[in-house]
Amino acid sequence: MDDSAVDPHATVEERDYEAALRPRSLAEFEGQPRVREQLGLVLDAALHRGTAPDHVLLSGPPGLGKTTLAMIIAAELGVGLRISSGPAIQHAGDLAAILSGLAEGDVLFLDEIHRLSRPAEEMLYLAMEDYRVDVIVGKGPGATAIPIELPPFTLVGATTRAGMLPGPLRDRFGFTAQLDFYDPADLAFIVGASSSKLGIRIDDDARVEIARRSRGTPRIANRLLRRVRDFAQVKGHEVATRDVARAALELYEVDERGLDRLDRGVLDALIRLFDGGPVGLSTLALSVGEEIETVSEVAEPFLIREGMLVRTPRGRIATRAGYRHLGVRPPSTMPALFDDDPGTP
Ligand SMILES: Nc1ncnc2c1ncn2[C@@H]1O[C@H](COP(=O)(O)OP(=O)(O)OP(=O)(O)O)[C@@H](O)[C@H]1O
Ligand SMILES: [Mg+2]
Repeated sequence: MDDSAVDPHATVEERDYEAALRPRSLAEFEGQPRVREQLGLVLDAALHRGTAPDHVLLSGPPGLGKTTLAMIIAAELGVGLRISSGPAIQHAGDLAAILSGLAEGDVLFLDEIHRLSRPAEEMLYLAMEDYRVDVIVGKGPGATAIPIELPPFTLVGATTRAGMLPGPLRDRFGFTAQLDFYDPADLAFIVGASSSKLGIRIDDDARVEIARRSRGTPRIANRLLRRVRDFAQVKGHEVATRDVARAALELYEVDERGLDRLDRGVLDALIRLFDGGPVGLSTLALSVGEEIETVSEVAEPFLIREGMLVRTPRGRIATRAGYRHLGVRPPSTMPALFDDDPGTP
């Protein structure tokens, strides 16, 4: 994966920066009003009863606040938090060790839960349902299952691919929070909160400018804020204004709609090299010199969301909006299906 400004995945060096910017309570968590209200109720009810709440599944694209919410859940409940992830748990035994180390009421956060191995997943079913694990001792016909009681705990699972979760696992979560892309207004608020935490002076217009280019994603908003801060510092601007933000983001090749070099490259190749398509994903990736996954997982979802590109069984096709964004005249014979906005010539 490259380190483009708008790749929604976190980079390693970004971790400390993100940790510093994480809201610590539900009240501080901006946006996602429905999730906040529903989750607030689940937590309040559990606190009221004095028992562990239902297991919670957090699903949604990268950078929208799943890890943040998991930490908030533990903080709001005032309990311990244990963190692991699907890929980190190689064997069911690893999971058994984690589970048996939990204290009563703890939150266990399992990131990328869709990547758990099959045996670990099956162990988890029992743990979620009966607070119990069966540890198998011995091999072959002589093997015996020794049940171990677990204290009541709350599993918080996170996934970017809810569709890849097996039904039985999904069904064992009492509450699923589906995170969605953020409104620009919420993102502008988040940029403001992050600026305060970092001691960055930034005006309202600059916040809006950053929010607009952040693809509905707080992680990207925080990242663009950092680029703007660096730019302002180096160029000697005391306050980041809209002009400063624009100049900074232009330097990093993030355009007004939030497209970066990769997105524009993909759109440009599709339109100029392949006459708007249809063209296959691998051909398209090759023509921009990128991995197939980078094109399909980083650039395309956003271009599709912006209505600039569509995936069809015959390949990728640029829409009128895509042509318009690059300032290229769309062909007059464009199929009506791809005429996303017939009002504009
Ligand atoms: N609602 C929010 N309010 C303020 N900041 C937020 C919010 N949601 C996310 N952030 C910030 O965005 C960054 C990324 O959030 P987080 O790590 O929780 O995303 P994620 O959904 O876990 O992503 P991934 O799928 O890559 O693990 C963090 O720095 C966090 O502080
Ligand atoms: Mg995360």
